[in-house]
Amino acid sequence: MSISAVTTALPDTMNAIVCEAFGPVDNLLVKALALPTPDSDEVLIKVHAAGVNFPDSLLVQGLYQMKPERPFIPGNEVAGTIVSLGANVAHLQVGMRVVGLSMLGGFAQYVTCKTTHVMPIPESIPFDQAAGLITAHATAQHALVQRAHLQKGDIVLVTGAAGGTGIAAVQIAKKLGATVIAACSTQEKLDFAVSQGADFTINYSEQNIKEQVNHITQKRGVDIVYECVGGNIFDQCSKSMAWNGRLLIVGFAGGVIPKFPVNLALVKGYSVVGVFWGAFTLHEPKVFQQNMQDLFGWLSHGDVTVHVDKHYTLANTPQALHDLNHRKAKGKLIIMPSA
Ligand SMILES: NC(=O)c1ccc[n+]([C@@H]2O[C@H](COP(=O)([O-])OP(=O)(O)OC[C@H]3O[C@@H](n4cnc5c(N)ncnc54)[C@H](OP(=O)(O)O)[C@@H]3O)[C@@H](O)[C@H]2O)c1
Repeated sequence: MSISAVTTALPDTMNAIVCEAFGPVDNLLVKALALPTPDSDEVLIKVHAAGVNFPDSLLVQGLYQMKPERPFIPGNEVAGTIVSLGANVAHLQVGMRVVGLSMLGGFAQYVTCKTTHVMPIPESIPFDQAAGLITAHATAQHALVQRAHLQKGDIVLVTGAAGGTGIAAVQIAKKLGATVIAACSTQEKLDFAVSQGADFTINYSEQNIKEQVNHITQKRGVDIVYECVGGNIFDQCSKSMAWNGRLLIVGFAGGVIPKFPVNLALVKGYSVVGVFWGAFTLHEPKVFQQNMQDLFGWLSHGDVTVHVDKHYTLANTPQALHDLNHRKAKGKLIIMPSA
């Protein structure tokens, strides 16, 4: 860490959620820590809102592919105000309202972010909406646009469609001119997906996905699946594809990574396409930046919305992680560290 070039009057300490050892989310502690200092290519952000994402709880339990050194502060997406600049930062200013992709450190009152992953946000967008837009919507946009090459008129099936990234996929697919089938575990979630633009629904607690897709598409199958759940849900989706389809591997929220008989892809002439948005932001930073500009434009014009299901104080972060783990969330859960 280096000394920042420009600094406003800041407190010496901040409150943060700390994971001292991998374990249950209830073990997370609120601690007073020294403020982080931005490196030369970083800014320090006062966090007004931090989005909760599925990997956050996996990370603190030691169940995620990335295993950070302990202790660490979880939380990877924030919206707030820049309060300090690293020595080499020229294009951002103290006082700017921004979103930041911090990878870690977001469940805190202050966090440092690399400038490549910080973007100014329009005055009209509230902090909680901005924080909620980052991972969920940006993953859906990257998956549908760059990975699936969605065309107007495509039929898109979304699983876990009322979850954070699922509902974003419903909105974005609809905005891009697709017919959208939402698949969820309860009628309440399906009603929510319809309110966000879904044209058809499948309740996979009671209905077989392949049978319902055959019924809805008159046996044609779907062009794109945005698959977030894994296990048996993935298996049913893999038998529901149209010729030239794209089966997007987004996540395994159900906890089971499926095994895939590749003959299905051969016989139906479809592609199985991996989606890793975090890696994409590093491999293709310019496309990532352009995507975010497009997303903020869509949000400003009401083409997409961030449905914030619930706000939490910093101290209630474990409860937020519990709620997400127990399939209680519709849309986004947001931590408000400065509340
Ligand atoms: N590849 C990427 O770049 C990327 C980026 C973001 C997220 N993801 C992944 O995408 C998945 C969804 O993320 P999210 O933020 O949208 O999560 P979320 O808001 O918690 O939504 C996940 C949905 O999955 C369904 N689900 C089925 N079984 C579940 C279980 N045992 N526990 C929890 N949920 C279950 C739930 O819907 P129903 O109750 O309707 O089944 C839930 O709404 C996660 O696996 C996440 O890691 C991947």
